[in-house]
Amino acid sequence: MPIIQDWIPPTRENYETLLFGWQIAYPIIGSLQWVIKWYGMGKTSEASPLNIPGRIAWMAMECPGFLTLLYIMRTLPAEHGITDLPWQNLVLAGLFVIHYLNRAVIFPLIQPSMAPIHISVAAMAMGFQVCNATSIASWLAAYGPVTAEAWKSQSSIPQFALGLLVFYAGLAGNYFHDEELREIRRREQRRQDKIRAEQGKNGDSDVAQAPITKHYAIPEAGLFRYMLFPHYFCEWIEWLGFWIAAGLTCTPARAFFINEVFSMLPRAVNGKAWYIAKFGEDKVGKKWAVIPGVI
Ligand SMILES: NC(=O)c1ccc[n+]([C@@H]2O[C@H](COP(=O)([O-])OP(=O)(O)OC[C@H]3O[C@@H](n4cnc5c(N)ncnc54)[C@H](OP(=O)(O)O)[C@@H]3O)[C@@H](O)[C@H]2O)c1
Repeated sequence: MPIIQDWIPPTRENYETLLFGWQIAYPIIGSLQWVIKWYGMGKTSEASPLNIPGRIAWMAMECPGFLTLLYIMRTLPAEHGITDLPWQNLVLAGLFVIHYLNRAVIFPLIQPSMAPIHISVAAMAMGFQVCNATSIASWLAAYGPVTAEAWKSQSSIPQFALGLLVFYAGLAGNYFHDEELREIRRREQRRQDKIRAEQGKNGDSDVAQAPITKHYAIPEAGLFRYMLFPHYFCEWIEWLGFWIAAGLTCTPARAFFINEVFSMLPRAVNGKAWYIAKFGEDKVGKKWAVIPGVI
């Protein structure tokens, strides 16, 4: 049973319409962040009755992506009489699911704390997930190469292997730098626990408790030495690898990569301005925002 008749999963015509609109509309939407500086999430979140607790919002906005992909991969091939998809389609779907199991489920559970997220930001992110997953899954399930023969001209085995390598290098880098941000809060928690333990030993009953929520420091490990958003940079490497593996003519993979850059580049540049305002030009100024040597 379709989730939305003729759209999830889409007919070929609707897939083509979605893909066309996705390539035009999202770069425009993402670019609005250069002019609209408000961003109700993370460092720049503000108190609002329309805020959703960070972990819940994150899961709610990110899970629809990989769930939509799994649903389309399960239903669309049969509609087109496809009984056996080539291994490349399954591997690419697997990469998408691996990434989003981490991003949508594990990430919000292991963050020491997450700032609240405004409902409008969560809704935009959910829209991104559903459109992106629908375009990628439809290509993988029926509208891209669906025979071993078709893959010969889509992406050679060495190219596919190179793409996988690039993907996993990006995934590892993304995880490593996310982990460094987590460690800042864990370190702060340990510092506060130690102070409390010492105050307790001295019989001091007025033990201060500052929450680690929204505690920020300048990260320094790995590529943080050179830039402020290496986790974004590594995520781009990941999806560049996915695009290489899928073949450079894979429009949904290209649109995903480009739309991620349009979404995250202004965020990183605005984020650098936030770091400078909080910690000062002298401490932050020499670090790039997200692409070393460029921006
Ligand atoms: N944002 C996007 O548009 C987007 C799109 C695709 C993928 N992603 C990926 O999703 C992940 C998270 O993205 P994000 O935009 O939320 O990244 P982010 O703003 O850097 O925040 C990531 C997490 O680290 C904490 N944090 C950030 N800077 C910190 C600092 N200086 N000191 C201590 N803790 C800090 C944040 O806490 P608070 O929440 O409390 O601020 C948040 O929990 C990244 O790996 C990114 O590549 C993001």
